[in-house]
Amino acid sequence: MKTNASWGGRFSEGPKEAVAAYTESESYDRNLAPQDIRASKAHARMLARQGVISAEDGATLVEGLDAVAREIEEGRFVWKPELEDVHMNIEARLTELVGDVGKRLHTGRSRNDQVGLTYRLFVSDALVEWQRLLAALIARLVHRAEDHAEHILPGCTHLQPAQPVSLAHHLLAYAWMLRRDHARLTDTLKRVRVSPLGAAALAGTTYPLDPQSVAREVGFGDIYPNSMDAVSDRDFVLEALFDGSLIMTHLSRLCEELILWANPNFGFIRLSDGYSTGSSIMPQKKNPDVAELMRGRTGRVNGALVGLLTVVKGLPLAYNRDLQEDKEGFMDASHTVMTSLNVMEGMLAEVTFNTDRMEEACRRGFLNATEMADYLVGKGIPFREAHHITGHAVALAEQRSVTLEDLSLEDLKSLDARIDKDIYAVLDCHAAVRRRETPGGTGPKSVARQLAMLKTWLDEAQSSRQA
Ligand code: ARG
Repeated sequence: MKTNASWGGRFSEGPKEAVAAYTESESYDRNLAPQDIRASKAHARMLARQGVISAEDGATLVEGLDAVAREIEEGRFVWKPELEDVHMNIEARLTELVGDVGKRLHTGRSRNDQVGLTYRLFVSDALVEWQRLLAALIARLVHRAEDHAEHILPGCTHLQPAQPVSLAHHLLAYAWMLRRDHARLTDTLKRVRVSPLGAAALAGTTYPLDPQSVAREVGFGDIYPNSMDAVSDRDFVLEALFDGSLIMTHLSRLCEELILWANPNFGFIRLSDGYSTGSSIMPQKKNPDVAELMRGRTGRVNGALVGLLTVVKGLPLAYNRDLQEDKEGFMDASHTVMTSLNVMEGMLAEVTFNTDRMEEACRRGFLNATEMADYLVGKGIPFREAHHITGHAVALAEQRSVTLEDLSLEDLKSLDARIDKDIYAVLDCHAAVRRRETPGGTGPKSVARQLAMLKTWLDEAQSSRQA
């Protein structure tokens, strides 16, 4: 193979074929082309403003880069793996199109700070899309929750029936997790949007560059204060991957519940046909494969995070080629996060809640035992004692295979004479939900407050996206 034109000056022979294939990144970093061109245009304009190149050359470079962008968009661009990566492919084509002026683009820049800026733009664009999809999923949860403030199901601890909660409250718990994920991305974006351009290879450059103006032009808030940190920092990808892992973890928890709820022994939901699959051998089966795959794909994103942490852990300053390994894992993770958020939104849009089954389940497992204890406290009995008396009532009901509210007043009075017939209203599971109006509780007023907060936030998120 011929020597690579861009760095081949001192080489008499090009890399071995297997080596070229081993080291190239063009096959996947070509996805970074739009961001690489955006960054290069900003660099070219800055070079011209600073008088490092002529205004005319600056304009030629920008026009040439636009022409390359069009070729790529329209699928006319001929990618050459022997040019190693997206940066060299674009620069080589630019030079073909505009002539020797193309060779001035790389003035005062190294591929190390170039890939740094390009990749930050790419990650930044991806995270903005994650946020849009998160907001859509939150909106779906809010929308589904709105109809179910009055429907109850057993809330669990240890996956054992604990206390009744409203279905709306249960769904909104996930909305709040995802709301935090959204906020986490906003915070991460502050650190992603820092430009390393001007760091050059590692030590800065002798040209009178204006890196701040490049940062501004690409929409970044700041530049790196240290050039060696600038070209070797991959914290921004690691943070993005962590954020992605947590999003997938939240989705995975929701998947787990959907899988349980779809089991006929629960029977709380019916997944629509479009979001479930059959079995090739058991005709009766309707499997929650989509939720299972999503739960499983959490592993891919966690893997990408741990993979990159491992790549970075032993690296001396500054740039090392190991850092090229920062891309494929993130690209796969980003695809997983985006498709998962999108598919979950669709699955929740079509799921049928079997609210009768949920209600019926509230009659099993003594979900109203806490209500009875609280009732006794209301009669002046200390809580520990009330707990004890209620325990006896549960044991009695269990013995007879009935619920607490099925016990006669006589039976209840035999446990404690202070119990009266007003206890039956207290034992009602709907009443139990209605009474829980502490901030963040499952009561209807609390749920209405949550819905209002989330809706306000969704409106704000939408208008800041449009801004
Ligand atoms: N393709 C490389 C990467 O993704 C960027 C080029 C820097 N390469 C170099 N030999 N300095 O990290």
